Amino acid sequence: MKLTLKIWRQNGPDDKGGAVTYPIDGVSEDMSFLEMLDVLNEELIAKGEEPVAFDSDCREGICGMCGVMINGEAHGPERVATCQLHMRSFRDGDEIVIEPWRADAFPVIKDLCVDRGSFDRIIQAGGYISANTGSAPDAHATPVPKNDADRAFMAAECIGCGACVAACPNGSASLFLGAKITHLGEFPQGQPERDARVMSMTAQHDHEGFGGCTNLGECSRACPKGIPLNVISQMNGDLLRSLRHQS
Ligand code: SF4
Ligand code: FES
Repeated sequence: MKLTLKIWRQNGPDDKGGAVTYPIDGVSEDMSFLEMLDVLNEELIAKGEEPVAFDSDCREGICGMCGVMINGEAHGPERVATCQLHMRSFRDGDEIVIEPWRADAFPVIKDLCVDRGSFDRIIQAGGYISANTGSAPDAHATPVPKNDADRAFMAAECIGCGACVAACPNGSASLFLGAKITHLGEFPQGQPERDARVMSMTAQHDHEGFGGCTNLGECSRACPKGIPLNVISQMNGDLLRSLRHQS
């Protein structure tokens, strides 16, 4: 395939940045999207130009490092992480616009790389659970109802990629936050700090400059892990409960 790439280039957080056009030839439909960017970067390096900076690590949809806007959609046209997107989703002759996540709480570091340290600080604000340490307890020592375990594992699939924020017109991280609150709130071990956790994590979310949720649902539609909107309802329920307990 022969493609035209329009890629956001930005030297650093304070640079204005802008789109640069790169024609690319010989792209196989079996390549992943990131492999296609690798090929472009090899060409740029061979010409003595600076390669395009982008994040990736596992390239298996697990770590959440990758993620760019592709033709205006977070992670592109399929509901997968950018590293799992393949070039067969595009046609010969296509023009592909590639930009970094756009959100105040995710400042651009360089080109397509953004700083998602705000997510780390939200998780950090969640603190710890007061489970005893020591040797591993017997697997069945604390029974967990099957439905609770399934829901916790569903929420735990969130890889922290940030697509939900990039897709949300409000720049809200409510889906990410709801996934973390649901994941920890479903287990018996997560109960002692449940109230404190939701209070401090939501406060950190707002402090980081993420927007509020207005139930538009763009986050869930963009999520490569299919995290449902109802984790946000669960988070709001937990927040109300903790406020009632305080009063
Ligand atoms: S909720 Fe989905 S889109 Fe948001 S960070 Fe988690 S995996 Fe990514
Ligand atoms: S590189 Fe790890 S999820 Fe894409």
